[in-house]
Amino acid sequence: MAVTSGIELELDDIQSGALHERPSPYVGAYRLLRIDDARAGRELVRRLLPAVDSGRPSAAPERDAWITVAFTYQGLKALGVPRESLASFAPEFQQGMAARAAELGDVGESAPEHWEAPLGTPDVHMAIAALSPDAQRMAAVLDRARRARHGLEGVEVIWRQDCYQLPSGRTSFGFKDGIGQPAVEGSGLQPTNPRERPSKPGEFVLGYPDETGALSPMPTPEVLGRNGTYVVFRKLHTKVAAYRQYLRAKAAGREDEARLGAKMVGRWQSGAPLALAPDADDPSLGADTRRNNDFGYGDDLRGFKCPAGAHARRANPRDALEPEGAVDVRLHHMLRRGTSYGPMLPAGVLEDDGVDRGIVFVFLGTRIDRQFEFVKTQWLNDGVFIGTPDERDPLAGPNHGSEAFTIPRRPIRRRLHEVPPFVITRGGEYCFAPGLRALRWLAGLET
Ligand code: HEM
Repeated sequence: MAVTSGIELELDDIQSGALHERPSPYVGAYRLLRIDDARAGRELVRRLLPAVDSGRPSAAPERDAWITVAFTYQGLKALGVPRESLASFAPEFQQGMAARAAELGDVGESAPEHWEAPLGTPDVHMAIAALSPDAQRMAAVLDRARRARHGLEGVEVIWRQDCYQLPSGRTSFGFKDGIGQPAVEGSGLQPTNPRERPSKPGEFVLGYPDETGALSPMPTPEVLGRNGTYVVFRKLHTKVAAYRQYLRAKAAGREDEARLGAKMVGRWQSGAPLALAPDADDPSLGADTRRNNDFGYGDDLRGFKCPAGAHARRANPRDALEPEGAVDVRLHHMLRRGTSYGPMLPAGVLEDDGVDRGIVFVFLGTRIDRQFEFVKTQWLNDGVFIGTPDERDPLAGPNHGSEAFTIPRRPIRRRLHEVPPFVITRGGEYCFAPGLRALRWLAGLET
């Protein structure tokens, strides 16, 4: 157990997928399952238990590969979780992500009617995520999962998605990702931003005090809710060729292309933050994990270094909103576990090759409403909070081709017009990843 201000975080009972540092690089696999028979579903959970590891920090190489198990609301129902318990889960989780589409900006090409089957349908019950430093150990992990299903009638794999992290950590638009991450008190995860006090564990794991000092609403019975976390899962297609064409059309030369790209993200492709490297990329800074997240925006409130509308600054404005005192940014932090799918578009190619590529995003936290949904709807999809109500996140926002992106500059600002959509939602689900004791409780249900 890890002690956090007198509270003991039960790392041995929390699934690895929640708090364990991921190996880098890694390969990953997502499997979605439908449970047609409650007994078979519970038997599968029981058989998977030995393969599901806890979030205890460890240097042992065999602990670098693991399986995470999570359920949708429909999945908990299919397992036979009692009605009063189902009703105790967060309302957004009960509704499911597809029902939240209009609020989330998943409209037009991103609307659930265009999602990849079976995402967003009531058939999705259970998610198994496997992660490993290499293909060999991945095969062994997946084999364990396959053997657990062996001979079980009534549980069906209905969706498969393989994914990976490149050794460079870069994702399809060319940017290093996964740098900005909240530290969690008592988790053993190393904080990457020394200016920021670690978040209270109750922001990310149920059953502990959160940043408000209270316990986040926890599903009942306690054995089911405690040490669990909500998992927001989204498959996002990235229009890489369209993005490159847009920069080529708007920029005055190659150097300017890189600069505009960085202004849109808030970091250079290497990961170096504009807040620390405002004028040119600094790859050594981008690669330095002790420095590349050590910054705030307090000395740059007008956004001359990093525009207030840049993706990473919208998604985590850090100290930029504090002078107003209106928003407690810390209430909107979440753990991010993004991972690439599909092959990268080769460097320099501007034509669309028709291949599906992008990011499978996973956001973890105890409050879907004030974490993922707040950040997506208020900060990425809207500009009111930074005084540009007509602008959206230039990279990940639901743009239509009519929105602009403002880059503060002296003597006059620069504006990029007609920002097209670069990211399309292919589907997603709200899931719940229970603690290990809770998984045993689910396996033993007798309804
Ligand atoms: C395909 C869509 C997306 C892409 C390509 C993308 C890319 C990036 C990149 C390159 C960074 C900077 C590197 C880093 O700090 O780790 C970043 C940061 C971040 N993104 Fe995204 N992102 C996407 C969607 C989203 C969505 C939908 C959300 C939330 C609703 C989000 C939340 C964040 C957060 C919280 C940060 C860290 C900010 C910080 O702490 O400084 N991203 N993203």
